[in-house]
Amino acid sequence: MTRAVVATGYGGAEVLEVVDLEVGEPGEGQVLVDVRAAAFNPADWKIYGGLWGADPAALPRRVGLEGAGVVAAVGPGVTRFAVGDEVVAHPAGGSFAEQVLVRERVLEHKPAGLAFEAAAGLLLAGGTAWHCLHAVGLDPADGGPGAPSRGAVPARADAGSPSADAPLPVLLVHGGAGAVGSLVVQLAVARGVRTLATCSAANDDYVRSLGAEPVRYGPGLAERVRAHGEVSAAVDTVGTEEAIDVSVELVADRERIATVAALEYGARFGIRLLGHGPGMDPGDEVRRAARVPLLELAAAGRVSVRVAQTFPLEEVRAAHELIVSGHAPGKVILVP
Ligand SMILES: NC(=O)c1ccc[n+]([C@@H]2O[C@H](COP(=O)([O-])OP(=O)(O)OC[C@H]3O[C@@H](n4cnc5c(N)ncnc54)[C@H](OP(=O)(O)O)[C@@H]3O)[C@@H](O)[C@H]2O)c1
Repeated sequence: MTRAVVATGYGGAEVLEVVDLEVGEPGEGQVLVDVRAAAFNPADWKIYGGLWGADPAALPRRVGLEGAGVVAAVGPGVTRFAVGDEVVAHPAGGSFAEQVLVRERVLEHKPAGLAFEAAAGLLLAGGTAWHCLHAVGLDPADGGPGAPSRGAVPARADAGSPSADAPLPVLLVHGGAGAVGSLVVQLAVARGVRTLATCSAANDDYVRSLGAEPVRYGPGLAERVRAHGEVSAAVDTVGTEEAIDVSVELVADRERIATVAALEYGARFGIRLLGHGPGMDPGDEVRRAARVPLLELAAAGRVSVRVAQTFPLEEVRAAHELIVSGHAPGKVILVP
């Protein structure tokens, strides 16, 4: 048996319950993981909030998409992991639990120096961030002073890195203090890209510590960005009309504007829509190939995951409230 968070309906915090569930033995190619930390993502509440469908037949449904922990048992055919290995799991449906049963292919080895909490929150946001930069022609693996080794990350066919004599790119990141945005910032800065990041006053110092120039969002944003100079690419991780409008106003090439959050509004402007849905680029190959480089960068201290707060499973409703606020100062983490 395992303690696990389930959604008993579609709605807000009130639908979340902690229950005992049968977890079972790992079957062919499966691994049983003792979860040490699981990361809350906006996608979690969007799923049980019914934003992407509200099929009653899927209830009660387990919650959580990623986590980190220790291998408790392996099924037949598992070759890369053994009992006791520290691992990161994504995508790992049902990770808000003491134990989760996953396919071997969703696991990576957790670097020893990386805390479980940070590791739990790295791959979903980090893979998305990598995809954003790839989409606007600033792939983290393409070069620059602090770029990671190229590894197996595929190149975007239609947007290479700027040539040596091209002007240095300037990137605008909307939501630069968020989970995805802060990783976009860090990967861009590591690649040598001058980066402007929108945030609230509370996050100015944090954004500066990542190497970006903070810019206050809200009315007058375009003018404040202009005061920093010309912008050659933009990544929106917030989803406001303001973020899209300002990006379209300031970036000449719409192929160099990407959003992961304003998918309907962004579709009007011919910008890059990243994620799952009609007309969007899911970027599965890029995100998957980014996993090991991201873990290496995190282990080396070259990218970090800020943790806002940890909660025991029993306090999942409080964790929900923090993440839906849209202003959590870092990842919201559940610790079974
Ligand atoms: N399409 C995909 O593949 C994909 C993948 C992952 C995530 N997402 C989506 O991306 C979004 C961000 O996810 P996340 O995990 O990064 O969320 P998060 O960690 O909760 O980030 C929220 C950030 O947004 C900032 N913010 C709030 N209102 C803002 C505004 N009006 N203008 C600028 N910034 C504002 C906040 O900064 P302040 O506190 O400084 O205001 C906060 O740092 C979510 O909608 C999520 O569902 C999409």
